Amino acid sequence: MLGPRWCCLPKGEKARRGRTARLSGTDVGRQEALKYAIISDPHANLEALKAVLKLVDDSDADRTVCLGDVVGYNANPNECVELMRERDIPTICGNHDAVACGITEPWGFNPIALAAALWTREALTDDNIEWLRLLPDGRRFGPEEHGHFLAAHGSPLDRDTYMFGWEDVIPHIDYVREQNCDLCLFGHTHCPGIFTDDGVYTVDDDSRFVVGEDAAEGARAKVFFINPGSVGQPRDGDARASFGLMDTQSGVFELVRVDYSIKDAAERVIEAGLPHFLADRLYLGR
Ligand SMILES: [Fe+2]
Ligand SMILES: [Fe+2]
Repeated sequence: MLGPRWCCLPKGEKARRGRTARLSGTDVGRQEALKYAIISDPHANLEALKAVLKLVDDSDADRTVCLGDVVGYNANPNECVELMRERDIPTICGNHDAVACGITEPWGFNPIALAAALWTREALTDDNIEWLRLLPDGRRFGPEEHGHFLAAHGSPLDRDTYMFGWEDVIPHIDYVREQNCDLCLFGHTHCPGIFTDDGVYTVDDDSRFVVGEDAAEGARAKVFFINPGSVGQPRDGDARASFGLMDTQSGVFELVRVDYSIKDAAERVIEAGLPHFLADRLYLGR
């Protein structure tokens, strides 16, 4: 892929979104702490996305951020993109988004992912393809002197890189620090988790984790990497939709799991003519 296209533009400046931007500004000009709803990998699963957004609306979150892969695998790519657009949700470009809009080709996709990617390309409207093409590869949120977090899809510098464990995040710690951040939120693996340079923390349903809690006074803060799991195709054995709430005031990350009609989503996959495996895996959460 080409070099990353980072974005730190004010909310609402959609016309400029996606242009190469240095990580030099502050996000939305707001310096105060915020509570963010962090969603990732909706993958065209409209039932799951609606269920998650309903819970977000009922929460006290100030803003929602999407870590990418809005489309691919499931049957409602246009509807999911349009929900993002209607709500003006800052969204990072995922590898499936990049393939769907033609930024990249599906080299390396397995046959099932490839079939879904090609189906998605055909299904998307021109307008929604254009929206996908303008998504940035990363975005920094919060004040310049101490950002709330970096948002990425795979790794901070590559949407295709999987970060499953602490050894995967180590090469990216310095980069996150260089952006005056000590937190990176990412997706792509579809498995929730919290990673730092000395280990992995598991997060359970409704569990809360205080980021940076154990930093000794005067010591350099650890850099944390948090994956909120997948909205539309969880793969951690829990079939419920997954997302996170990140409170930058208290430093608390909360993992939330959401029941939705898997049956309806699976039926849409079959009706669309997509591979049956994509319907079956929704029930398994794998
Ligand atoms: Fe994904
Ligand atoms: Fe991905």
